[in-house]
Amino acid sequence: MSLDPTPTTIRFATRSDALAIAVMSRDLIEKGLGWSWTKERVMRSIRHPDSNVVVAMRDADRAGFGIMKYDEDEAHLLLLAVQPGFLRRGVGSALVEWLEQSARVAGIARISLEARYSNVDARNFYSRLGYSQGELLPGYYGGREASVRMAKELGSSRQGIA
Ligand SMILES: CC(C)(COP(=O)(O)OP(=O)(O)OC[C@H]1O[C@@H](n2cnc3c(N)ncnc32)[C@H](O)[C@@H]1OP(=O)(O)O)[C@@H](O)C(=O)NCCC(=O)NCCS
Repeated sequence: MSLDPTPTTIRFATRSDALAIAVMSRDLIEKGLGWSWTKERVMRSIRHPDSNVVVAMRDADRAGFGIMKYDEDEAHLLLLAVQPGFLRRGVGSALVEWLEQSARVAGIARISLEARYSNVDARNFYSRLGYSQGELLPGYYGGREASVRMAKELGSSRQGIA
């Protein structure tokens, strides 16, 4: 990680973030798969009571974002990305830590996600954060590419978000 002292702050997304988030999803996550997370779909998650959409800010820049959906016992990390100019500065880790903490506060015991099998960087990133690799899901992305399910069991302590 670089020694850049600029702090990363995490905040809830608002409607004015929806397009920027959709574009990050298209360019950084859905590359080669079509664009399913349009501005309208992101807006639906922003409004949905069982989802959190958060943005990582570095000064005035949107450095990244994450979307998590909460079910009864499990949360699903749907999307996470960091802009190329902000990689390896702890932004992705800060987003995941914030979302994990919000899940703990909600009493959720487990977080799962799917990563593209070809996305070795993301799989390394999640492994480093304590996610174990599980099932391989061939053709998960519209028959075009396999994904790997990853999951992390959260501790049971219920603390406030720092
Ligand atoms: C995966 C991603 C979110 C990581 O974000 P990031 O802000 O660069 O991650 P961090 O700086 O918090 O990295 C934490 C640790 O994860 C590991 N890691 C992160 N990126 C890595 C990479 N490209 N290769 C190998 N390990 C990596 C490292 O151990 C890193 O610690 P270090 O920098 O001290 O070595 C980012 O690369 C990204 O947005 N990729 C494109 C979109 C994507 O793949 N999203 C995930 C699937 S939805």
